[in-house]
Amino acid sequence: MIKILTVIGARPQIIKAAALSRAITNSFSDKLKEIIVHTGQHYDTNMSEVFFDELNIPRPDYNLNVGSGSHGKQTASMIEGIEEILLKEKPGCIVLYGDTNSTLAGAVAASKINIPVIHIEAGLRSFNKSMPEEVNRIMCDHVSTLLFSPTKTGYRNLIKEGFKENNQAPFSADNPKIFHCGDVMYDNSLYFSEVAEKRTNILAKNELKKNEFILATIHRNNNTDEPERINSLFSALHKIATENKVKIVLPLHPRTAKLLSKNLSSELYSNIKLNKLIQIIEPVSFLEMIALEKNALLVMTDSGGVQKEAFFFKKPCIILRSETEWVELVECGSAKIVDADEKKIIEAFNDFRNAKNLKFADLFGDGKAAEFICNEIIKL
Ligand code: UD1
Ligand code: UDP
Repeated sequence: MIKILTVIGARPQIIKAAALSRAITNSFSDKLKEIIVHTGQHYDTNMSEVFFDELNIPRPDYNLNVGSGSHGKQTASMIEGIEEILLKEKPGCIVLYGDTNSTLAGAVAASKINIPVIHIEAGLRSFNKSMPEEVNRIMCDHVSTLLFSPTKTGYRNLIKEGFKENNQAPFSADNPKIFHCGDVMYDNSLYFSEVAEKRTNILAKNELKKNEFILATIHRNNNTDEPERINSLFSALHKIATENKVKIVLPLHPRTAKLLSKNLSSELYSNIKLNKLIQIIEPVSFLEMIALEKNALLVMTDSGGVQKEAFFFKKPCIILRSETEWVELVECGSAKIVDADEKKIIEAFNDFRNAKNLKFADLFGDGKAAEFICNEIIKL
C-alpha cells in the first residue's frame, strides 16, 4: 500500500482533489491510501465545508487552521504544520494542486525532507510574476518529481524551462517526469454535470432563466485591491446590466465582498446596490456553480477554474485579466481577454451575445485524468 499525502487549502483545490479521491476510492483503494491535510487557507463554510459533503471527499485527516494572513505569515505557518505531519506520517509522496500558498507550502516542506512532490496542474504560466500564483507554481514545479500538465501549452512551458521529455525512471526531483494528461477539473465537470441541475435549485431561487443571465466572478488580488480596477469592473457590469436589461449573477468571493464598500466609489457602490439586475449572492456550492455555468448566456470572470468550466459547458467567456494561463480558450475564439478595461468588457459582451458557431475543441482530456495520475503515482 502506498501512502500519499494530499494538501488542500483553497476552494479550487478542494474541488480538484475530489477527482483523485474518487478515483482512489473506486479503482485504486487496494494500492493507494490517501491522507488529506487541509491547511485552513479557506475556512468559511461556503468556501470549504460545503464541497466535502457535496463532492463526497473524505474528511481531512488534519486541519492546520492557518486562516488568512500576509503571504509570508500564512505560508510559513503552513510549512511548519505540513512538515510536522510529513515527519509523522512518512508518506511515499505529497500531492499538490495548482498554485496557491497551500501549494507552495507543501512543495517547500516536502522537498526539504526529500519526499517526492507530485504537482497536478503543472506547467501553467501567465508570464506575470507580479501574480502570487505565478511565483507559487514556478517554485512548486521546480522541486517536483512527477509533473502533470492539463494542457499541451503547459507541457511545452515545462520543456522551455529545461524539463526533459525523455527522462527515464527512477524519477526524482533531479530527474523529474513530465506528463500531458488532461485536466482533473474536466473529470469533475463531466462527472457532476448530469446531476447539477437535479440536485440544486439555484436557478429557481434566483429567478434565472436559461441563456438570459450573465454569470460573473471576481476575486483576483489586483482586481479587488486596486480601486481603479475594481471600479472599472463594476462600472462595466452596471452598464451592461442596465443598458441591455440583462441579469448578472455574481457569487461573490469573500475577499471581494470585504473590499467592495471600501474600494468602490460611493456613487458606484450605491448604484450597484440599487441595481435589481445585479444579483450579488454568497459563494455557491460546486453543483450550484455548474448549474449556473451550464445555463448562463455567457461568463465573465478572473478565475482560472471558471474560465475553463465555461469552456467545458460551451459558454463564451470574458476574461477579466490581462493574460491567461489557459491560452487555448482564447485561441479557439470562445474567450476574450479584456483586462479590467470597461470599454473592452462592454465590447466583448456585445460581440459574444450574438456570436454563433463558437468553437469549443476537446482540449482537456477524456475525463480520466485522475486515473492516469493514480497509475503513474503507483509506478513511481
Ligand atoms: C486564493 C489563492 C488564489 C485562488 C483563490 C481561490 C493564493 C496566493 N491565492 O486567493 O490563487 O485563485 O484562493 O479562491 O493562495 N477569506 C474569507 N474567508 C475564507 C477565505 C478567505 O473571508 O474562507 C478572505 C479573507 O479576508 C482573506 C481573503 O479572503 O484575507 C483572501 O484569502 P486568501 O486565501 O489569502 O487568498 P484568495 O484571494 O482567496
Ligand atoms: N466555484 C464554486 N462556487 C463559487 C465560485 C466558484 O464552487 O461561488 C468553483 C468553480 O466552479 C471552480 C472553482 O470554484 O471549480 C474555481 O475556484 P476560484 O474561482 O475560487 O479559484 P481559481 O480557479 O481562480 O484559482
